[in-house]
Amino acid sequence: MQTRLSSKLVKAAIIFSFGISATIATTTSAFAQTTPDAVYQGLGGKEGINKIVADFLPIVLADDRIKDTFKETDMERLGLMLAEQFCALTGGPCKYSGKDMQEAHKGMNINNAQFNALAEDLQIAMEKNNIPSSVSNKLVAKLAPMQRPIVTK
Ligand code: HEM
Repeated sequence: MQTRLSSKLVKAAIIFSFGISATIATTTSAFAQTTPDAVYQGLGGKEGINKIVADFLPIVLADDRIKDTFKETDMERLGLMLAEQFCALTGGPCKYSGKDMQEAHKGMNINNAQFNALAEDLQIAMEKNNIPSSVSNKLVAKLAPMQRPIVTK
């Protein structure tokens, strides 16, 4: 009798604890779920992205590793296009209206080191705007597939 009762108690305890873990698992995954525009919001929306791009361009133009490439570039257009592209890429309410990446960088002979230099400058601009690395890394990760059409050397 004693053993049957305690085995019943053990069973009940197991079922109960399963219930708890299921609840915890559901709650945790509900928290972990992010909205499709989480990175856009993390960057501070349109205003935040404009600010990041405004800080990014002078950093690029001061970067000896890549600045010469931009000698004849209309920086105002580049800024507008980048802001639009970052907004669209991160789930914001924008449509990128510029050239595709292969077309935009055709004939520039961009190498991996230059690509990485530009990504690094963008990270610096985001740090300057106090964007947490959990967010800035996500934007950089979204840009990574562009290495293929941009890097031709
Ligand atoms: C993830 C990396 C990059 C992204 C997302 C990116 C994005 C863009 C965008 C959106 C444009 C504007 C296209 C348009 O005018 O319609 C552009 C143009 C340009 N990019 Fe990039 N780019 C990247 C890497 C680079 C690198 C590594 C260089 C050189 C070191 C570079 C040099 C340029 C130049 C010079 C232009 C202006 C072209 C022109 O004057 O028409 N880009 N890029």
